[in-house]
Amino acid sequence: MAEPILQVENLVKHYPLTRGVLFRKQVGAVRAVDGVDFTLGRGETLGIVGESGCGKSTVAKMLVNLERPTAGAIRYKGEDITRLSGRALKAVRRNIQMVFQDPYTSLNPRMTVGDIIGEPFEIHPEAAPRGDRRRRVQDLLDVVGLDPEYVNRYPHQFSGGQRQRIGIARGLALRPEIIVADEPVSALDVSIQAQVVNLMDRLQSEFELAYVFIAHDLSIVRHISDRVGVMYLGRIVETGTDTEIYDHPTHPYTQALLSAVPVPDPAARERRERILLSGDVPSPTDIPSGCRFRTRCFKARERCAVEVPLLAVPEEFRATGGPAAHASACHFAEERKVVPQERRGGPA
Ligand SMILES: Nc1ncnc2c1ncn2[C@@H]1O[C@H](COP(=O)(O)OP(=O)(O)OP(=O)(O)O)[C@@H](O)[C@H]1O
Ligand code: SF4
Ligand SMILES: [Mg+2]
Repeated sequence: MAEPILQVENLVKHYPLTRGVLFRKQVGAVRAVDGVDFTLGRGETLGIVGESGCGKSTVAKMLVNLERPTAGAIRYKGEDITRLSGRALKAVRRNIQMVFQDPYTSLNPRMTVGDIIGEPFEIHPEAAPRGDRRRRVQDLLDVVGLDPEYVNRYPHQFSGGQRQRIGIARGLALRPEIIVADEPVSALDVSIQAQVVNLMDRLQSEFELAYVFIAHDLSIVRHISDRVGVMYLGRIVETGTDTEIYDHPTHPYTQALLSAVPVPDPAARERRERILLSGDVPSPTDIPSGCRFRTRCFKARERCAVEVPLLAVPEEFRATGGPAAHASACHFAEERKVVPQERRGGPA
């Protein structure tokens, strides 16, 4: 793996649940993120995937300091940025930027595109001299494939895909090393998704960016990710290279998610097995004991209710090595091919 640029250790975000108006009393907690670990290498893409409500956006917000963690560490080049404040924090934040999910609501409708993309320069005036900003903004428009003449237009004059290009240009303005993209294409038409993913791919090589790329659909992240982490109810349950996760998944949850990925080839679709999960995702205020996935797992046994499975390479695969030997938080991890090999869905 490339030299680590970001190391996330036991990251936790609990939102207190309170009752009462005059005497507010804490009666519990929403365990939105409940112990997440991962490493991001320089210039690498880590895909984070999971169903709605599993804590993806909360992780993203903590990475860019929009939320303070309840516990854990976020090390940027070795330094825990959760302990920084003031000028030191501001300097680090320049290097970690975010692209938001919904290009329809994340751009201020009353600001021109030039002001939106140039906004980071107001916060970090040292990044571009005032007289140089308009040209920098026009360069950024060009870089994301938009006409530099559009600088005085307003967001409503653009399509969804173009708006997300504007969001990406804003994310690039300070020349960050890391971009945290929270479902950057989920709000877009399928036909436009591939264009935006391809743009991000190109920008990555051009600017040596590292991405944390969040999605709820495994087919979208495969194209762009070097490694993937699958999240369930506040934790990463399986992580590995794209081949390890897509072709050799060992965690029942990943296998179920993969079995729902669209397969365009009808013959392959016929052969593909669907794994249907029972029940709903439990509430993050009331996480099941032992394995948090056990209430929906088709393989759950007694041990799963009492013993928390750790995210590590399962013992049975440690000796044999190979693509199944990657971290999986399951007591009964087993390799199972779910997606037919020939062709896969998602943007190409
Ligand atoms: N400010 C908050 N106060 C209380 N609970 C919150 C808060 N923000 C998020 N949550 C809860 O934390 C959990 C994780 O939310 P989060 O937005 O991180 O999920 P997500 O994986 O991004 O979902 P989606 O795919 O829908 O965007 C959810 O149960 C959510 O309701
Ligand atoms: S530990 Fe048990 S419940 Fe959890 S994923 Fe593995 S088999 Fe399923
Ligand atoms: Mg989200």
